[in-house]
Amino acid sequence: MSSLTLEVETSSQKKHKQLAQWVEEAAQLCKPDRVHWCDGSHEEYQSMLRLMILAGTAIPLAEEKRPNSILVRSNPADVARVEDRTYICARTKDEAGPTNNWEDPAKMKAKLKGLYTGAMAGRTMYVIPYSMGPISSPIANIGVEITDSPYVVANMHIMARVGTRVLEVLGEDGEFVRGLHSVGAPLGANDQDSPWPNNPVEKYICHFPDTREIWSYGSGYGGNALLGKKCHALRIASVQARDEGWMAEHMLILKMTSPSGQVKYITGAFPSACGKTNLAMLIPTIPGWKVETIGDDIAWMKFGADGRLYAINPEHGFFGVAPGTSMKSNQNAMLTATKNSIFTNCAMTPDGDVWWEAMTDEKPAELIDWLRRPWTPNSGRKSAHPNSRFTTPASQCPVIASEWEDPKGVPIDAILFGGRRAGIVPLVTEAFSWQHGTFLGATASSETTAAAAGKVGQLRRDPMAMLPFCGYNMGDYFGHYLKIGVRPGAKLPKIFYVNWFRTDENGGFLWPGYGENSRVLKWVFERCDGKVHAVDTPIGRLPEPADLDTRGLDLPAANIAKLLSVDVEGWLAEVPLIREHFAKFGDHLPEGLRQEVNDLEGRLKKAKK
Ligand code: GTP
Ligand code: SPV
Ligand code: MN
Repeated sequence: MSSLTLEVETSSQKKHKQLAQWVEEAAQLCKPDRVHWCDGSHEEYQSMLRLMILAGTAIPLAEEKRPNSILVRSNPADVARVEDRTYICARTKDEAGPTNNWEDPAKMKAKLKGLYTGAMAGRTMYVIPYSMGPISSPIANIGVEITDSPYVVANMHIMARVGTRVLEVLGEDGEFVRGLHSVGAPLGANDQDSPWPNNPVEKYICHFPDTREIWSYGSGYGGNALLGKKCHALRIASVQARDEGWMAEHMLILKMTSPSGQVKYITGAFPSACGKTNLAMLIPTIPGWKVETIGDDIAWMKFGADGRLYAINPEHGFFGVAPGTSMKSNQNAMLTATKNSIFTNCAMTPDGDVWWEAMTDEKPAELIDWLRRPWTPNSGRKSAHPNSRFTTPASQCPVIASEWEDPKGVPIDAILFGGRRAGIVPLVTEAFSWQHGTFLGATASSETTAAAAGKVGQLRRDPMAMLPFCGYNMGDYFGHYLKIGVRPGAKLPKIFYVNWFRTDENGGFLWPGYGENSRVLKWVFERCDGKVHAVDTPIGRLPEPADLDTRGLDLPAANIAKLLSVDVEGWLAEVPLIREHFAKFGDHLPEGLRQEVNDLEGRLKKAKK
């Protein structure tokens, strides 16, 4: 680094006294060898890649296959978000609510200070100023992440806007979210570093909503370590949003254009690994329609002067699920990740490229799997970890919408909730009202996926896909939704519930999904203008088979009928389960939702007669 850049950094880093003091305190506590203030430059990114390659953390991919890209294999004990190690340290347990782990903030800080003491010995402490949202946009929010992981620095370069330009916006006294992250693996003199340092015993992902702080220890993976994403943009931001009357949601944002050139913006909240990236980039199978991407994971929505909800994507890249992504299922994601990308826990081909399950119809004859072992199609195991991921710049997406960085956001016409449900839940349901839509979101359930450590395929309630990401009492979060719904002058989006994952008796999908989901989006689009028919059922408004554009779709009529039918007996059996789910929230459950479950039961009983 030249002395000139050092001087520039020194002047901007010292401007903000509280920031400088916090960094100094963190350095005193964690005792790194040195402190590096990230400037966000291309050279800095390249130097992180070189460092990881030299340390054995990363392998450069073949330049002619994936220019300027690396493969990183993590420790097998550090492959996903750790929900059981994630805490919301609000003042009281009641504020964190029944769905979050809680510990007293002072107690948790005391415990973590013990763990952080000397935790960065032998390592460099990186200070990453980042902006969630376009720099200096009124909706954007600044954070600073301190980390001892070059992998985190490189990923943050892609996922957020980082560096000196952020410090400039922060000025002398700007507010920022403080994120402290350590992989928890100090090095003694002459200790050999591991390719993926992490702490095998202790992992903590802690949030202190009252002081807007994140303390993360022991993991280097994804949402555990890239603190701008789930920790800041969802858990901390959801608390800010509650306090300030806006919404921080686990939602994709897409732009849909009809053949006549009419545009609508649609968001969708589906749980982790349940199809957000895929829907955000889908290629419609219906002629003349176009879908473009604004965001694939997080939406921040604020009211405009016209009473509409405007959404921005606070992120700058995609941290996408690799397995299942192919030129057939998601061509746009494949084309995004052709260069300047980081691949984590994918398999490697002999010619220096990456591979994962279902990337190609034919499996490569040999690979090195994510556990660094030789692999063949007969190995009887997966070559890539089910939660292997690509980190790739959003700007490289072939269908990124021209307004994706518009600081004022895009006005939302429809919100989709959904999940992975093998049975009962129809392909699409329109809510009767905002309150009923909130009820649909609040009762969303889905089978667990590899995005979080733990069992896969367990059905659980995942309200608004926010179960792992809501930074406060989820009962109050439902209340916040209802409050948004009665805001004077609000022109609210319509709410829908979708399910691409209905299966038949043999476990095969009843609906082809992916690009064919455009048929459902078209119905949603036209419902927003009241242009297409729907039928009232006890659970909401559904298309009849004729209302759905199925031209050119090779699907048995029986499948469509099943996907659009309402199983009254099955739903009646759901009612007590919904009541059980709601009971957890005690008197934090808003009255409006209690009313909705009673109304649902009433409509179902009437339909049964
Ligand atoms: P996170 O990044 O974890 O939040 O996940 P996500 O919601 O963005 O999910 P993503 O789009 O990456 O999809 C996860 C998995 O579901 C991938 O393996 C996809 O291939 C698969 N998938 C996505 N859309 C569909 C669909 O419409 N039908 C079916 N059957 N599978 C889908
Ligand atoms: C998710 O799990 O919803 C993700 C991946 O988007 S992570 O960043 O690891 O949270
Ligand atoms: Mn996600």
